[in-house]
Amino acid sequence: MKNEIPPLARELNEILEGSVIMDLLSDFGKRFYFPKGIISQSAEAKEHAHRFNATVGMAYSGGQPMFLPSVHRHLANLQPEEIYSYAPTGGVPELRKLWKEQIIRKNPAIADKNVSLPLVVPGLTAGISVLADMFVEVGAPVVVADMFWGNYRLIVAGRRQGTLATFPLFKKGDGAPGLDLDALETTVRESVHNGRATLILNFPNNPTGYSPTQQEAAALRDRLLAIADEGIKLLVIHDDAYFGLFYEPGTYTSSLFNELADVHPNILAAKVDGGTKEDLTWGFRVGFITFSAGGATTEQYEALVKKGMGAIRAAVSNCSRPGQSLMIHAIKSETYQQEKQLAFDELKKRYLAVKEILASAELPANVRVLPFNSGYFMAFELLEGGAEALRLKLLHEKGIGTISIEDRYLRVAFAAIDLDKIPELYREILASMKKTG
Ligand SMILES: Cc1ncc(COP(=O)(O)O)c(C=O)c1O
Repeated sequence: MKNEIPPLARELNEILEGSVIMDLLSDFGKRFYFPKGIISQSAEAKEHAHRFNATVGMAYSGGQPMFLPSVHRHLANLQPEEIYSYAPTGGVPELRKLWKEQIIRKNPAIADKNVSLPLVVPGLTAGISVLADMFVEVGAPVVVADMFWGNYRLIVAGRRQGTLATFPLFKKGDGAPGLDLDALETTVRESVHNGRATLILNFPNNPTGYSPTQQEAAALRDRLLAIADEGIKLLVIHDDAYFGLFYEPGTYTSSLFNELADVHPNILAAKVDGGTKEDLTWGFRVGFITFSAGGATTEQYEALVKKGMGAIRAAVSNCSRPGQSLMIHAIKSETYQQEKQLAFDELKKRYLAVKEILASAELPANVRVLPFNSGYFMAFELLEGGAEALRLKLLHEKGIGTISIEDRYLRVAFAAIDLDKIPELYREILASMKKTG
């Protein structure tokens, strides 16, 4: 089964029709397009958001990207070898080893389990894309929450010709809001294709900023184990882009990879993570894929990692050497953890400021705040739609950049806004909502 050509690709194809370009494009080339999502809205904000730009998933301070001094101070001090030479296809061995140690530190349950050496990929996007190349068949569904990072569509449906099967992230109703685990389980079961199912878990979630509580994490693990017990083979991809930014007590503070690594012969857990957001190194393009399959042998891990290396080699050959070298120095620096803690403290202050404002804000009846407790973002849901009109109004009348999703959600990247500006940002958003709503 082949996907239809998406409308945006069709528009581009119409422009190319009659030229040699169109005659030469492959099926893939004909299907491809540049989505009108976060990237194009961010580009608009760059032009018009002269006051606050709360679009992009980066952390800013005083108009500059935040950074860890233990990364920055090495920029001028790297040896030529650390900058100019090719990195090995799978990544610089020292970095792979150091990152694995970090993964174990953050996910203590895997200390005694079998987990592959991480593979270096050019950012988390590439990590997900490599996994999709390796595991997603044409026509096969990939389960994601209905609140998902839009690039999953381009990777899974656009690139691989799979489909996205979505489930509502949150339970309906005004009772205790939380993850809709029934819906997740049902959607996984309905998405079994040739005896297997693929699920992407992204916590802290983009765009909502939600992470599971400890109880939810345990329940989620148990439900997936029950499905695996029935003989269904599960690939669980953990997109841990915003890992570590957990602001509330009671939140599960490891990756779900911690629960699903090496626990069941029918589960392959693949962790995608990196310094991009965690270590404030967005432009470095250094991410990791780490595998764990219940009961797999050392030889099998090596074979799997080699396949991953083949996928990397075919796409990008190898990843940024300077980025990897800087990360090695940073992780080995004595102040690395302390500096990460300072960045965390700053983002947590912003989070708490947003929470406090929203706790006493009078929202229009048709607007609700989606649950959030972690990460870079929070999102409003406009129950009757109009998020795009609200975004445009904020952008063109107030000089404020936000992201609208499906005309129903407005995502605000509070991590990109200085603490002292957060009250003004939300005052403007709430005032514009009232007029729009
Ligand atoms: C959920 C999620 N996954 C992955 C990424 C991509 O990370 P990278 O810049 O390392 O490719 C992002 C970035 O916005 C994200 O929000």
